Amino acid sequence: MAKILSGKELAEKMRQEMKSEIDELKTHHNLVPGLAVVLIGDNPASLSYVKGKEKACARVGILSREYKFDADYKEEQLLKLIRELNNDPLIHGILVQLPLPDHINEEEILYAIDPTKDVDGFHPVNIGKMMIGAPSFLPCTPHGIQQLLLRNNIEISGKHVVIVGRSNIVGKPLAMILVQKNPGANATVTMCHTRTKNMAEITKLADILVVAAGRPHTVNAGMVKQGAVVIDVGVNRIEDKSKKRGYRLIGDVEFDEVSEKASAISPVPGGVGPMTITMLLHNTIQSAKNHAGIK
Ligand code: GUN
Repeated sequence: MAKILSGKELAEKMRQEMKSEIDELKTHHNLVPGLAVVLIGDNPASLSYVKGKEKACARVGILSREYKFDADYKEEQLLKLIRELNNDPLIHGILVQLPLPDHINEEEILYAIDPTKDVDGFHPVNIGKMMIGAPSFLPCTPHGIQQLLLRNNIEISGKHVVIVGRSNIVGKPLAMILVQKNPGANATVTMCHTRTKNMAEITKLADILVVAAGRPHTVNAGMVKQGAVVIDVGVNRIEDKSKKRGYRLIGDVEFDEVSEKASAISPVPGGVGPMTITMLLHNTIQSAKNHAGIK
Protein backbone atom coordinates (compact mmCIF):
# COMPACT_ATOMS: atom_id res chain seq x y z
CA MET A 1 0.00 0.00 0.00
CA ALA A 2 1.35 3.39 -1.01
CA LYS A 3 2.40 6.15 1.37
CA ILE A 4 -0.29 8.86 1.36
CA LEU A 5 1.15 12.26 0.49
CA SER A 6 -1.08 14.44 2.64
CA GLY A 7 -1.07 17.98 1.34
CA LYS A 8 -3.49 18.81 4.11
CA GLU A 9 -0.98 17.95 6.86
CA LEU A 10 1.98 19.57 5.10
CA ALA A 11 -0.05 22.71 4.34
CA GLU A 12 -1.00 22.99 8.01
CA LYS A 13 2.66 22.80 9.02
CA MET A 14 3.77 25.35 6.43
CA ARG A 15 0.95 27.73 7.37
CA GLN A 16 2.05 27.62 11.02
CA GLU A 17 5.52 28.72 9.87
CA MET A 18 3.95 31.47 7.74
CA LYS A 19 1.81 32.70 10.63
CA SER A 20 4.96 33.17 12.74
CA GLU A 21 6.63 35.05 9.89
CA ILE A 22 3.60 37.33 9.47
CA ASP A 23 3.51 38.01 13.23
CA GLU A 24 7.17 39.10 12.94
CA LEU A 25 6.43 41.35 9.96
CA LYS A 26 3.62 42.99 11.93
CA THR A 27 5.66 43.45 15.07
CA HIS A 28 8.97 44.57 13.57
CA HIS A 29 7.94 46.23 10.30
CA ASN A 30 4.31 47.23 10.86
CA LEU A 31 3.61 45.28 7.65
CA VAL A 32 0.41 43.31 6.99
CA PRO A 33 0.47 41.35 3.70
CA GLY A 34 -2.66 42.13 1.67
CA LEU A 35 -4.37 40.06 -1.03
CA ALA A 36 -7.20 41.17 -3.34
CA VAL A 37 -9.36 38.31 -4.60
CA VAL A 38 -11.56 39.07 -7.61
CA LEU A 39 -14.40 36.76 -8.60
CA ILE A 40 -16.76 37.35 -11.51
CA GLY A 41 -19.92 35.25 -11.81
CA ASP A 42 -21.15 32.32 -9.74
CA ASN A 43 -19.21 29.24 -10.93
CA PRO A 44 -19.66 26.91 -7.91
CA ALA A 45 -16.09 25.53 -8.03
CA SER A 46 -14.65 29.07 -8.24
CA LEU A 47 -16.83 30.22 -5.33
CA SER A 48 -15.57 27.31 -3.26
CA TYR A 49 -11.89 27.95 -4.17
CA VAL A 50 -12.20 31.65 -3.38
CA LYS A 51 -13.80 30.88 -0.02
CA GLY A 52 -10.93 28.51 0.78
CA LYS A 53 -8.34 31.15 -0.15
CA GLU A 54 -9.98 33.81 2.01
CA LYS A 55 -10.30 31.50 5.00
CA ALA A 56 -6.63 30.52 4.71
CA CYS A 57 -5.59 34.20 4.56
CA ALA A 58 -7.57 35.04 7.70
CA ARG A 59 -6.02 32.14 9.60
CA VAL A 60 -2.40 33.14 8.92
CA GLY A 61 -3.01 36.89 9.30
CA ILE A 62 -3.05 38.06 5.67
CA LEU A 63 -5.54 40.83 4.99
CA SER A 64 -7.81 39.63 2.18
CA ARG A 65 -10.19 41.91 0.34
CA GLU A 66 -12.92 40.29 -1.71
CA TYR A 67 -14.32 41.77 -4.95
CA LYS A 68 -17.34 39.80 -6.16
CA PHE A 69 -19.33 40.83 -9.22
CA ASP A 70 -22.17 39.45 -11.32
CA ALA A 71 -21.39 37.55 -14.52
CA ASP A 72 -22.27 40.61 -16.65
CA TYR A 73 -19.51 42.76 -15.09
CA LYS A 74 -17.80 44.64 -17.93
CA GLU A 75 -14.19 44.16 -19.02
CA GLU A 76 -13.51 47.93 -18.75
CA GLN A 77 -14.78 47.93 -15.16
CA LEU A 78 -12.50 45.03 -14.31
CA LEU A 79 -9.50 46.74 -15.95
CA LYS A 80 -10.22 49.90 -13.95
CA LEU A 81 -10.39 47.89 -10.71
CA ILE A 82 -7.06 46.19 -11.52
CA ARG A 83 -5.42 49.58 -12.13
CA GLU A 84 -6.68 50.77 -8.74
CA LEU A 85 -5.38 47.64 -7.02
CA ASN A 86 -2.02 47.98 -8.82
CA ASN A 87 -1.70 51.40 -7.13
CA ASP A 88 -3.06 50.40 -3.71
CA PRO A 89 -0.19 50.28 -1.19
CA LEU A 90 -2.12 47.96 1.16
CA ILE A 91 -2.51 45.31 -1.54
CA HIS A 92 0.53 43.17 -2.38
CA GLY A 93 -1.20 40.39 -4.30
CA ILE A 94 -3.95 40.48 -6.94
CA LEU A 95 -5.76 37.27 -7.82
CA VAL A 96 -8.42 37.16 -10.52
CA GLN A 97 -10.14 33.80 -10.26
CA LEU A 98 -10.26 31.88 -13.54
CA PRO A 99 -12.13 31.01 -15.66
CA LEU A 100 -13.61 34.42 -16.53
CA PRO A 101 -16.95 34.80 -18.37
CA ASP A 102 -16.66 34.55 -22.17
CA HIS A 103 -17.15 38.28 -22.83
CA ILE A 104 -13.99 39.12 -20.86
CA ASN A 105 -10.61 38.64 -22.54
CA GLU A 106 -8.62 36.61 -20.03
CA GLU A 107 -5.25 37.48 -21.56
CA GLU A 108 -5.96 41.20 -21.43
CA ILE A 109 -6.89 40.97 -17.75
CA LEU A 110 -3.85 38.91 -16.75
CA TYR A 111 -1.56 41.29 -18.67
CA ALA A 112 -3.03 44.28 -16.79
CA ILE A 113 -1.97 42.98 -13.37
CA ASP A 114 1.27 44.55 -12.09
CA PRO A 115 3.79 41.66 -12.39
CA THR A 116 5.15 42.56 -8.94
CA LYS A 117 1.67 41.82 -7.50
CA ASP A 118 0.96 38.78 -9.69
CA VAL A 119 0.88 36.18 -6.91
CA ASP A 120 -0.71 33.61 -9.26
CA GLY A 121 2.40 33.78 -11.47
CA PHE A 122 0.26 34.03 -14.62
CA HIS A 123 1.66 37.29 -16.09
CA PRO A 124 3.94 36.68 -19.12
CA VAL A 125 6.77 38.52 -17.35
CA ASN A 126 6.65 35.99 -14.51
CA ILE A 127 6.18 33.06 -16.89
CA GLY A 128 9.26 34.23 -18.82
CA LYS A 129 11.29 34.59 -15.63
CA MET A 130 10.21 31.12 -14.51
CA MET A 131 11.30 29.71 -17.85
CA ILE A 132 14.84 31.08 -17.55
CA GLY A 133 15.06 30.22 -13.86
CA ALA A 134 15.11 33.84 -12.60
CA PRO A 135 13.41 34.73 -9.28
CA SER A 136 9.67 35.17 -9.90
CA PHE A 137 6.28 34.26 -8.50
CA LEU A 138 5.82 30.60 -9.38
CA PRO A 139 2.29 29.43 -10.27
CA CYS A 140 0.81 28.00 -7.07
CA THR A 141 -0.30 24.50 -8.09
CA PRO A 142 2.96 23.39 -9.74
CA HIS A 143 5.00 25.02 -6.97
CA GLY A 144 2.82 23.22 -4.41
CA ILE A 145 3.42 19.88 -6.18
CA GLN A 146 7.19 20.45 -6.08
CA GLN A 147 7.00 21.24 -2.35
CA LEU A 148 4.79 18.19 -1.66
CA LEU A 149 7.44 15.96 -3.27
CA LEU A 150 10.50 17.60 -1.71
CA ARG A 151 9.09 17.85 1.81
CA ASN A 152 8.19 14.17 1.68
CA ASN A 153 11.86 13.46 0.83
CA ILE A 154 11.03 12.31 -2.69
CA GLU A 155 14.04 12.88 -4.92
CA ILE A 156 13.20 14.75 -8.13
CA SER A 157 16.73 15.16 -9.53
CA GLY A 158 17.47 12.67 -12.31
CA LYS A 159 13.97 11.17 -12.13
CA HIS A 160 11.67 10.76 -15.10
CA VAL A 161 8.59 12.91 -14.46
CA VAL A 162 5.65 12.31 -16.80
CA ILE A 163 2.95 14.99 -16.77
CA VAL A 164 -0.51 14.27 -18.18
CA GLY A 165 -2.13 17.60 -19.14
CA ARG A 166 -0.71 20.72 -20.77
CA SER A 167 -2.68 23.57 -19.18
CA ASN A 168 -1.11 26.97 -18.60
CA ILE A 169 -1.99 26.68 -14.90
CA VAL A 170 -0.51 23.24 -14.12
CA GLY A 171 1.06 21.07 -16.84
CA LYS A 172 3.21 23.54 -18.75
CA PRO A 173 4.57 25.49 -15.75
CA LEU A 174 5.24 22.26 -13.81
CA ALA A 175 7.40 21.00 -16.68
CA MET A 176 9.32 24.31 -16.63
CA ILE A 177 9.86 24.21 -12.87
CA LEU A 178 10.99 20.58 -12.66
CA VAL A 179 13.37 20.72 -15.61
CA GLN A 180 15.37 23.66 -14.16
CA LYS A 181 18.99 23.18 -13.30
CA ASN A 182 18.67 23.40 -9.55
CA PRO A 183 18.73 20.94 -6.65
CA GLY A 184 14.94 20.74 -6.17
CA ALA A 185 14.42 19.98 -9.86
CA ASN A 186 16.79 18.51 -12.50
CA ALA A 187 14.10 16.09 -13.68
CA THR A 188 13.75 14.53 -17.11
CA VAL A 189 10.28 15.67 -18.12
CA THR A 190 7.83 14.20 -20.61
CA MET A 191 4.43 15.76 -21.30
CA CYS A 192 1.33 13.88 -22.47
CA HIS A 193 -1.93 15.38 -23.70
CA THR A 194 -5.12 14.60 -25.59
CA ARG A 195 -3.26 13.98 -28.86
CA THR A 196 -0.58 11.73 -27.34
CA LYS A 197 -0.46 8.27 -28.89
CA ASN A 198 0.06 5.17 -26.74
CA MET A 199 -0.17 7.19 -23.55
CA ALA A 200 -0.02 4.16 -21.24
CA GLU A 201 3.38 3.21 -22.68
CA ILE A 202 4.70 6.62 -21.71
CA THR A 203 3.05 6.91 -18.29
CA LYS A 204 4.48 3.47 -17.40
CA LEU A 205 7.99 4.92 -17.77
CA ALA A 206 7.35 7.53 -15.07
CA ASP A 207 9.20 7.50 -11.76
CA ILE A 208 6.90 10.39 -10.84
CA LEU A 209 3.55 10.59 -12.63
CA VAL A 210 1.57 13.84 -12.35
CA VAL A 211 -2.00 13.71 -13.63
CA ALA A 212 -3.61 17.07 -14.38
CA ALA A 213 -6.05 16.17 -17.14
CA GLY A 214 -9.22 17.47 -15.49
CA ARG A 215 -11.02 14.23 -16.31
CA PRO A 216 -11.93 11.41 -13.90
CA HIS A 217 -10.58 7.87 -14.54
CA THR A 218 -7.70 9.19 -16.73
CA VAL A 219 -5.09 6.92 -15.10
CA ASN A 220 -5.60 3.35 -13.91
CA ALA A 221 -3.20 0.81 -12.40
CA GLY A 222 -2.25 -0.58 -15.82
CA MET A 223 -0.73 2.78 -16.72
CA VAL A 224 1.54 3.01 -13.67
CA LYS A 225 4.97 1.46 -13.02
CA GLN A 226 5.34 -0.58 -9.82
CA GLY A 227 6.74 1.74 -7.11
CA ALA A 228 6.05 5.01 -8.95
CA VAL A 229 5.07 8.20 -7.14
CA VAL A 230 1.66 9.44 -8.32
CA ILE A 231 0.39 13.01 -7.93
CA ASP A 232 -3.30 13.52 -8.68
CA VAL A 233 -4.17 17.13 -9.51
CA GLY A 234 -7.76 16.45 -10.63
CA VAL A 235 -10.72 17.92 -8.78
CA ASN A 236 -13.93 16.48 -10.22
CA ARG A 237 -17.39 16.77 -8.71
CA ILE A 238 -19.33 13.49 -8.84
CA GLU A 239 -23.00 13.34 -7.91
CA ASP A 240 -23.45 11.61 -4.55
CA LYS A 241 -26.91 11.72 -3.02
CA SER A 242 -25.60 10.30 0.27
CA LYS A 243 -23.75 13.61 0.85
CA LYS A 244 -25.55 16.64 2.24
CA ARG A 245 -24.16 18.86 -0.54
CA GLY A 246 -25.15 16.29 -3.19
CA TYR A 247 -21.66 15.56 -4.58
CA ARG A 248 -18.21 14.34 -3.66
CA LEU A 249 -14.78 15.12 -5.09
CA ILE A 250 -12.66 12.62 -6.98
CA GLY A 251 -9.33 13.02 -8.76
CA ASP A 252 -8.17 12.00 -12.24
CA VAL A 253 -6.59 8.78 -10.94
CA GLU A 254 -8.27 5.49 -9.97
CA PHE A 255 -7.05 5.85 -6.40
CA ASP A 256 -7.88 2.40 -4.99
CA GLU A 257 -6.14 0.30 -7.64
CA VAL A 258 -3.24 2.71 -8.24
CA SER A 259 -2.44 2.97 -4.51
CA GLU A 260 -1.81 -0.82 -4.55
CA LYS A 261 0.98 -0.32 -7.09
CA ALA A 262 2.47 3.12 -6.33
CA SER A 263 5.04 3.75 -3.60
CA ALA A 264 3.37 7.08 -2.77
CA ILE A 265 0.20 8.83 -3.92
CA SER A 266 -1.57 12.11 -3.22
CA PRO A 267 -5.27 11.82 -2.33
CA VAL A 268 -8.21 13.91 -3.55
CA PRO A 269 -9.31 15.82 -1.57
CA GLY A 270 -6.48 16.64 0.84
CA GLY A 271 -3.55 16.33 -1.59
CA VAL A 272 -2.54 19.04 -4.03
CA GLY A 273 -5.47 21.41 -3.29
CA PRO A 274 -4.30 22.62 0.14
CA MET A 275 -0.76 23.02 -1.25
CA THR A 276 -2.00 25.37 -3.98
CA ILE A 277 -3.51 27.71 -1.41
CA THR A 278 -0.39 27.49 0.75
CA MET A 279 1.85 28.62 -2.11
CA LEU A 280 -0.53 31.53 -2.76
CA LEU A 281 -0.01 32.61 0.86
CA HIS A 282 3.75 32.18 0.35
CA ASN A 283 3.72 34.40 -2.77
CA THR A 284 1.63 37.07 -1.01
CA ILE A 285 4.07 37.23 1.91
CA GLN A 286 7.00 37.37 -0.53
CA SER A 287 5.34 40.20 -2.45
CA ALA A 288 4.69 42.19 0.73
CA LYS A 289 8.36 41.81 1.69
CA ASN A 290 9.52 42.77 -1.81
CA HIS A 291 7.36 45.91 -1.81
CA ALA A 292 8.64 46.87 1.66
CA GLY A 293 12.27 46.17 0.71
CA ILE A 294 12.63 43.40 3.32
CA LYS A 295 15.00 40.53 2.47
N1 GUN B 1 -8.66 28.68 -11.41
C1 GUN B 1 -8.22 27.41 -11.18
N2 GUN B 1 -7.02 27.44 -10.56
C2 GUN B 1 -6.70 28.75 -10.39
C3 GUN B 1 -5.59 29.40 -9.80
O1 GUN B 1 -4.62 28.80 -9.30
N3 GUN B 1 -5.64 30.76 -9.80
C4 GUN B 1 -6.67 31.45 -10.35
N4 GUN B 1 -6.62 32.77 -10.33
N5 GUN B 1 -7.71 30.87 -10.91
C5 GUN B 1 -7.72 29.52 -10.92
